[in-house]
Amino acid sequence: MPNQNKISQFVDKVLNQDALEGMQLLPDESIDLIVADPPYNLGKDYGNDSDKQESEAFLRWTEEWLSLAISKLKPNGSLYIFATWRYSPEIFVFLKSKMIMLNEIIWDRRVPSMGGSTRRYSSVHDTIGFFAKSKDHYFDLDSIRIPYDEETKKARSRSIFVGKKWLEVGYNPKDLWSVSRLHRIHAEREDHPTQKPLEIIERMVRASCPENGIVLDPFAGTGTTAIACLLNKRRYITYELNPEYYEMILKRIKRKSNFFLESPSLPVNGDSKKQQDNQMPLLFGFNS
Ligand SMILES: C[S@@+](CC[C@H](N)C(=O)[O-])C[C@H]1O[C@@H](n2cnc3c(N)ncnc32)[C@H](O)[C@@H]1O
Repeated sequence: MPNQNKISQFVDKVLNQDALEGMQLLPDESIDLIVADPPYNLGKDYGNDSDKQESEAFLRWTEEWLSLAISKLKPNGSLYIFATWRYSPEIFVFLKSKMIMLNEIIWDRRVPSMGGSTRRYSSVHDTIGFFAKSKDHYFDLDSIRIPYDEETKKARSRSIFVGKKWLEVGYNPKDLWSVSRLHRIHAEREDHPTQKPLEIIERMVRASCPENGIVLDPFAGTGTTAIACLLNKRRYITYELNPEYYEMILKRIKRKSNFFLESPSLPVNGDSKKQQDNQMPLLFGFNS
């Protein structure tokens, strides 16, 4: 029997809880977007054993939380899942049995060339699966277009290009996302081994969740999804098992909320990238 809980009681909350337990309490078909960055099973230390399972157990666990999460998605909802080449084939085959696969996005972490693997090729990317529950999935392309620089605009000045919408509004992002991983010196960086760049999560949130819609992130880490939602007028529900990371997320959210309170004239929606650029060294940026 579906649970009788109201989604409003979970919205804009970080919960120090196992995502599998927490998500069971959410009403079905109440979520606009899932952004999931689960343990990759590479043996990382998150203060728990979540990244150190036997392969079979890891895949069974993945299927379990994915099935639950998908049941919480609205019929026009979608899902992004971070993975590595090691397990993405199995995970994507499973997801394709339940959803429509829209993209395999390659996140090029811009790893510099310094040695690397000697018996095979050095792996420098993460794989992101983008799936939708139906053909009617929400997708706001205009919110994530990439403006052409003046030089390119000039190069497209032949008469056949004049007045073309795409030249004015910018091009649509491709499936290769080249964004530097977060270095220790980066202003955004928290004390967590696998924090994702805000820029990547903001793109997902803007493209695939309407304003005031709800984003579910089962594996909060440093709370990047919650911050992306705050910056872009979306709501969030997110879980983190580790109590120390949980405290870190609350502090991060508080810092960001204070920043907004102290800067009431700052643009919120769609301009958060500009806002970050003013605060941070130019270490990264999408080029695709
Ligand atoms: C890959 S990290 C997420 C990083 C995050 N995207 C960020 O940008 O900071 C995965 C996180 O999931 C947490 N975790 C692992 N198993 C969990 C579970 N069953 N429920 C909730 N959180 C869990 C880990 O402690 C870890 O912090």
